[in-house]
Amino acid sequence: MVTAPLRLGVNIDHVATIRNARGGSYPDPIRAALIAQEAGADGITAHLREDRRHIIDEDIGHLIAAISLPLNMEMAATGEMVEIALRHRPHAACIVPERREEVTTEGGLNAAGQHNHLQPLIARMRDAGIRVSLFIEPDPMQIEAAISLEVPVIELHTGKYAHSDGEERAAELRRIADAAALASKNGLEAHAGHGLTFDNVAPIAAIPQIRELNIGHFLIAEAIFDGLAPVVQRMRALMDAAR
Ligand code: PXP
Repeated sequence: MVTAPLRLGVNIDHVATIRNARGGSYPDPIRAALIAQEAGADGITAHLREDRRHIIDEDIGHLIAAISLPLNMEMAATGEMVEIALRHRPHAACIVPERREEVTTEGGLNAAGQHNHLQPLIARMRDAGIRVSLFIEPDPMQIEAAISLEVPVIELHTGKYAHSDGEERAAELRRIADAAALASKNGLEAHAGHGLTFDNVAPIAAIPQIRELNIGHFLIAEAIFDGLAPVVQRMRALMDAAR
């Protein structure tokens, strides 16, 4: 059996985090998206949070206008976010749980417990041609809920896998593999993401039913080191040339 290709969605949120630290216009997350596109990304992911701590409203329109890759907009299940998604019509919208005080998305969406709240929001986006996914824990109950909500895609939360080790990590990897198999058997496309790094990506990437990984924080963090030397050298050269 030939394993289907695995797409890479690059999350550029944390370029915007650094931009917002000074409130100016750089580093520009759109420029980062274009570099990721050039470097072989298959999609760009951006999370418009309720508190706008990284991506802001204008970024969504600018991203869609600038990139030729599909945009996956991560969003909370609120009326405000659905209106924004309907206005911009990104290729995909991934519904994530959101609490203002959290540092990052700390757990999967409780799709099983929120069926009646989610159903109309999902229907409105589906009718607008947006591919809706649910960011859930690798738990059969949540997969069943996603099936009953008739979404085409689920994204499995790899945070627990990424932040554990030993037997606990092995058990979580099995849960993710089983969840991906269950989703795929029921016609759902399985994606995964959160906390993935050079060191922990391979076992997740080897799960044949997973079709896409969304990776952000580590890539932006690593880029500081892989890309810093030429920037310092260029500044040095410009200073030297001015003397
Ligand atoms: N997928 C989803 C649904 C997320 O919310 C996030 C974090 O914004 C990611 C993937 C990427 O996680 P990380 O930044 O840890 O790579």
